[in-house]
Amino acid sequence: MYKIPLAQPDITDLERKAVLEVLKTPYLSLGSKVKEFEKEIARYTGVKYAVAVNSGTAALHLIIRALDIKDNDEVITTPFSFISSSNCILYERAKPVFVDIKRDALNIDPELVEGSITTQTKAILAVDVFAYPADWDKLEKIAKKHNLYLIEDSAEALGSEYLPPHQNFGGGGKGKKCGSFGNAAIFSFFPNKQITTAGEGGVVLTDNKEISDFCYSVRNQGRRQDNNKWLEHIRLGYNYRMPEVCAAMGIVQLQRIEEVLKKRAKVASLYNEKLKDFEEIELPNNMSSWFVYVIRLNEKYEQEDRDRIIREMRERGIECSNYFYPIHLQPYYKKRFGFKQGDFPNCEYVSERTIALPFYNNLQEEQIDYIVETLKKIIKQ
Ligand SMILES: Cc1ncc(COP(=O)(O)O)c(C=O)c1O
Repeated sequence: MYKIPLAQPDITDLERKAVLEVLKTPYLSLGSKVKEFEKEIARYTGVKYAVAVNSGTAALHLIIRALDIKDNDEVITTPFSFISSSNCILYERAKPVFVDIKRDALNIDPELVEGSITTQTKAILAVDVFAYPADWDKLEKIAKKHNLYLIEDSAEALGSEYLPPHQNFGGGGKGKKCGSFGNAAIFSFFPNKQITTAGEGGVVLTDNKEISDFCYSVRNQGRRQDNNKWLEHIRLGYNYRMPEVCAAMGIVQLQRIEEVLKKRAKVASLYNEKLKDFEEIELPNNMSSWFVYVIRLNEKYEQEDRDRIIREMRERGIECSNYFYPIHLQPYYKKRFGFKQGDFPNCEYVSERTIALPFYNNLQEEQIDYIVETLKKIIKQ
């Protein structure tokens, strides 16, 4: 147990009450709460349909199935992400084709995407890394030009907004919400995210009725979407259903989203203020929705310095992490595809130097002072 954890959900009596109410009913699955949560999250994001499931990974898998991405199809994606954004491609025996990121934005570099398109390419799957939106304007143009599907992994970006041109991204209610780009998008509700659905959860978001109908069916064992035909399974499906207690918590968490985003912005601005003159590091981009607070050591540092800093922070009770380890260098990917160090230099450069500091709604200023002081001391050693 760390004195200061990396992340912590913000659960109030309102969420506890909502969950207890569900527990008093006979409907713990397939009830009205999931439908209500879907309606609210679709409205908030500005899309027509939402399909709630039991993880962000399940949501990504459903999109891959819905777009009929399969054997030997190629999907262009980023190596700087959580493993799910490329595992979901492998689930259907398709091939992730990695394209390097931009060092400053941390997202897939649209200028490099076209060079990786082949006759096998079926989709581009971009990630709003750390809630910073991918460059959707450019990606949409490329997808349209080459007749490719576009998938948004917005697992980390609930509440974030995109305002093209990309550099002018500022949020503040003026942009288009992350989770509304491409043919379909996802959010995750794992407890380190902006909101959680009692531990695990995810959602598919889309304006396309065919995609949403397919996802409703496949999350529920491939059933026909007709209550009278409950035991008819018309396609291969899974149990990816979201339980009612999770949806009930999600509804309340979503009602609190503005408060949540404000609290997170306050924590980020305290970090920014206290770290701004510390020349050994670079601060994160400004966000309209903060998922994590990830600093980057400057050029003179190497991976072993970063690893030492994280180790020593942890020894002092402060949980830090190295978000993200490049997907192409994960043991499974190296073994299966033969990737090696140097394949995606920007991703590797960033990965070797990033440190995620503790970040959550109710992180207190005294705790931030302790984290910042300890960090500065350890880095200067
Ligand atoms: C970018 C990204 N994609 C996908 C996922 C998968 O979400 P889940 O953990 O809910 O399966 C995550 C979750 O942490 C993520 O950060």
